[in-house]
Amino acid sequence: MYNCALIKFKDITDKYGHLTPIESKLDTPFEIKRIYYITKVEQGTTRGFHSHRKLHQVLICLNGSVKIRVKNPKEEEVFELNDPSVGLYVGTLIWREMFDFTEGSVLLVLASEYYDEDDYIRNYDFYLDEAKKRF
Ligand code: TYD
Repeated sequence: MYNCALIKFKDITDKYGHLTPIESKLDTPFEIKRIYYITKVEQGTTRGFHSHRKLHQVLICLNGSVKIRVKNPKEEEVFELNDPSVGLYVGTLIWREMFDFTEGSVLLVLASEYYDEDDYIRNYDFYLDEAKKRF
């Protein structure tokens, strides 16, 4: 889907377990300025419901699984993240919703910008108005 893609990171496996290194700009399509993680989401919760004007992100489920619905005015797709060596790149002007968090799941987000509430579009109708100019 436009502006969304799965990224496969290295998965260094030995008898001690798995290790995934992520180096800013080498393994991500942007410089990482911020990371955050989402944990302890109650079953049945859906979060997100927004888009960003400038921010790019990569979402990685470090434990358990979570589904991410991404939309633009013309397309919609659901990705299930359940592998810590796979990230979902989400570019600008993509509407996202995160749901079906399994118990104990951990969703790590790598972000291209510092937190800026003014970069969010949280109203779906406003999102469609802005995104229709692009898509
Ligand atoms: P939000 O991005 O709406 O979470 P989600 O899309 O996962 O539902 O953020 C939830 C709250 O946390 C909101 O009040 C903004 C705040 N927040 C920060 O203060 N800094 C951050 O880096 C992020 C991502 C959110």
